Amino acid sequence: MATLSFKTLDSLDPRGKRILLRADLNVPVRDGAISDLTRIERLAPTIKELADKGGRVIVVSHFDRPKGKPVPEMSLAPISEALAKALGKKVTFVPDCVGKVAQDAAAAMHDGDVVVLENTRFYPGEESNDPDMAKALASLADIYVNDAFSAAHRAHASTEGVARHLPSFAGRLMEIELSALEAALENPARPVGAIVGGAKVSTKLDLLNNMIEKVDMLAVGGAMANTFLAAQGLSVGKSLKEEDMLDTARAIAAKAKERGCELVLPVDVVVASDFMAGAPTETVSVSAIPDGWMALDVGPKTVAFLKEKLAGLKTLVWNGPLGVFELAPFDEGTNAVAQEAARLTKEGKLKTVAGGGDTVSALRHAGVLHDMSYVSTAGGAFLEWLEGKLLPGVVALGQAGEDVAPL
Ligand code: 3PG
Ligand code: MG
Repeated sequence: MATLSFKTLDSLDPRGKRILLRADLNVPVRDGAISDLTRIERLAPTIKELADKGGRVIVVSHFDRPKGKPVPEMSLAPISEALAKALGKKVTFVPDCVGKVAQDAAAAMHDGDVVVLENTRFYPGEESNDPDMAKALASLADIYVNDAFSAAHRAHASTEGVARHLPSFAGRLMEIELSALEAALENPARPVGAIVGGAKVSTKLDLLNNMIEKVDMLAVGGAMANTFLAAQGLSVGKSLKEEDMLDTARAIAAKAKERGCELVLPVDVVVASDFMAGAPTETVSVSAIPDGWMALDVGPKTVAFLKEKLAGLKTLVWNGPLGVFELAPFDEGTNAVAQEAARLTKEGKLKTVAGGGDTVSALRHAGVLHDMSYVSTAGGAFLEWLEGKLLPGVVALGQAGEDVAPL
């Protein structure tokens, strides 16, 4: 990760200015209701700060994947109501993000007002990063603030293109996310370890390769571990594994050894004959997985070993569950290790940074979501960061100058 710097809100006097605030209002919705308000709650302080200081805050975001045309179910209107509630303040919804409707709304604002524009992805120019779309968005405001770390891996008009046209600043949430990630991976207290779970080696290849370069210990869990075990010549029964990734897994293991990164794999697993609630289960050594059975969680010896490992770390990065935590009892391994990480964090012995994909729900399920040092609400952006990639939305903010936060 190259060193970047960017301006923060510390160097912005928003009074009387129209501020285009890129937020990530892409919140999870189930049966028409927002199922998790975390992204909205974390965004609120940035909006409050800007509005309280007399800024005119024009919130812009994507929601879901409407693919370049208006899709009524993907309107940001209901989400703007949830935002108003979180802010305890009136928020005006504007049914377009560019053009006359948006222009008129921006022109009618007073100091301290907040508006939310309609879904940017209703226009194809958002995802294609069309320069005209970026200019149309920029024309609404005097200043651009990006507070959407979780969308920063997308080089879209509202995350990247617009920064070319306006003085650009990182919002508070962006600042917090970036400094948490920096503290975990770029400049961590050592030893630093990572727990990486999930189903497929193939989707986490870049991530694993980058982690090996950065961390002192890498524990692999989830179905990905089966591929690593099979690569060692072990029989994993009918466990999920990627036959075509065995060489790759061996190469990762060899590279870890060469770099002095300890690769930790399960030593025992909980197996079941079927992936089904109430199916009979057994705990077996990884060298004794019966034919026709599948590994669905790490076993107690692995948990004990991982706990011991955690005790020796100063920093832990966590991405992905260790087992199929959605179905009891295959949540036990993830729960136990997450609870130990939380305990060490609360005692001030460990700094824990988690994020990406299922990680937030796994930690919530384990009851420790609020006990980690930092949990990112980013999915793909968190993963790309762990892969060591530069995120276009962050790069677009990068510049040298006064009052910049170094990264
Ligand atoms: C996310 O939810 O991860 C971000 O909002 C990005 O959404 P996308 O994957 O649809 O680009
Ligand atoms: Mg998504």
